[in-house]
Amino acid sequence: MPLYKSVTINDTTRLLVWKNTESMEELSQAVRLKDVCVHKMDKMKSEAHRKAFLGVRMLMQEIGYTDYDLFYTPDGKPHLKDGNTISITHSYAFSAIIVSSGESGIDMEMQREKVITIAEKFMEPEFAYLDPTHLDTYMKKLIVIWGVKEAVYKMLSRKGLSFKQHIEVFPFELANAQGIAQVKFEDIHAQYPFYFEEIEEFTLVYCLGKNN
Ligand SMILES: CC(C)(COP(=O)(O)OP(=O)(O)OC[C@H]1O[C@@H](n2cnc3c(N)ncnc32)[C@H](O)[C@@H]1OP(=O)(O)O)[C@@H](O)C(=O)NCCC(=O)NCCS
Repeated sequence: MPLYKSVTINDTTRLLVWKNTESMEELSQAVRLKDVCVHKMDKMKSEAHRKAFLGVRMLMQEIGYTDYDLFYTPDGKPHLKDGNTISITHSYAFSAIIVSSGESGIDMEMQREKVITIAEKFMEPEFAYLDPTHLDTYMKKLIVIWGVKEAVYKMLSRKGLSFKQHIEVFPFELANAQGIAQVKFEDIHAQYPFYFEEIEEFTLVYCLGKNN
């Protein structure tokens, strides 16, 4: 089943996850693309990337949108023409979107120990509550923190917003599958709820913002 998951988060927010199992031909036939996107896709180096790109469009079609409803601002942020917000992530076979009338952001990361070696690049205060001696929990929490910061970044898309300096993930438990992130940057001083879950060897994270 390529549509892996569809969740109604609240009255105006939907989250959908796609897992690619079909061939490029099957996907290409199922998705209608704007010329500019055909061009964009042709330039992608890997078939996995092309499939993820089409997977996003398949998810959009599930909820009544097409590629023609989507446009990007120069910062790379995707938008829907009807004024709803959309956030996009893709990782290997998975693609996921969150569509809402309010602000939201989404990210999916593969659970890899490599995150331990780059942790200092994206966090600082969080080290105070993490315990590196329990390696598996430590790695999974780092992945959540990274995913939260990516999701928050995508939701706000502000130039200069630093994962390490401006986004703080407060202490959380893996078993609770949720937490709070705080952003202090320029005029923004806000806290946002985030939610996460494991999907196969990946972690899916989303956050909710203004009007959500
Ligand atoms: C742009 C960025 C958010 C993408 O995240 P990623 O985990 O690499 O990749 P994902 O697959 O999860 O997300 C890609 C999607 O993000 C979306 N995106 C890209 N730039 C965006 C932006 N400025 N705002 C919101 N969404 C954005 C796009 O929809 C893109 O997919 P598409 O181009 O196929 O539509 C990320 O690479 C980035 O630049 N982060 C900020 C820089 C930073 O501080 N990095 C970490 C330092 S340790």
